[in-house]
Amino acid sequence: MPEQRSQDEESSQPNITLRKMTAEDLPQVLSFFEKVNPNATREQISKWTTPLLKDWPHLCWVAVKGKALVGAITAELRFFGVPFIEDLFVSESYRRQGVGSRLIRRALDEFRRMGVPFVKVESNPSTWPLAQKFYYRHGFRVCGVEQDRHGLGPKGDSVILKKLFKDSPT
Ligand SMILES: CC(C)(COP(=O)(O)OP(=O)(O)OC[C@H]1O[C@@H](n2cnc3c(N)ncnc32)[C@H](O)[C@@H]1OP(=O)(O)O)[C@@H](O)C(=O)NCCC(=O)NCCS
Repeated sequence: MPEQRSQDEESSQPNITLRKMTAEDLPQVLSFFEKVNPNATREQISKWTTPLLKDWPHLCWVAVKGKALVGAITAELRFFGVPFIEDLFVSESYRRQGVGSRLIRRALDEFRRMGVPFVKVESNPSTWPLAQKFYYRHGFRVCGVEQDRHGLGPKGDSVILKKLFKDSPT
């Protein structure tokens, strides 16, 4: 089902729409997420991404231009119900056109509907330079840094960001 878009989104990106991710999208989505997770294998990424489509279909979205995927986001309630954005990627040639913002707003809207009080996201040193400004712009703030979270050495240090819905209604 196409997303409901505001008028300014319609006019600035008339050819890019969002829709829920399907199993057929997975090969392309995994290629996207390999770039976000340079320390993980495709098999590992598939292991954490594939179940999300079944368990959290309303939290997994793709941005498409025609039949081509240009971006993707996945999210879930992790163990003990922690709302987490797992992966977000926009193709290099479609960046700075608001596609990432549309994807994250869609996921945040779904989380709001679920009534959760906050959403978290994890950034690693490879994504931090681009992700920091993006997530701050969307109301996230750093809430923790964990050294070598995934046992990968200094390359694997993680920054955790959190957005509180009560402080940031948009
Ligand atoms: C982060 C990412 C998803 C942003 O997607 P995008 O479609 O380019 O984002 P938007 O166009 O919606 O940008 C929204 C705002 O984020 C900030 N931003 C995004 N990219 C930026 C960059 N390269 N440099 C500085 N600020 C940036 C800006 O404030 C921007 O608003 P502006 O263009 O009006 O200045 C994209 O750069 C990407 O896929 N990066 C690689 C993977 C990654 O880092 N994923 C997130 C970590 S999990």
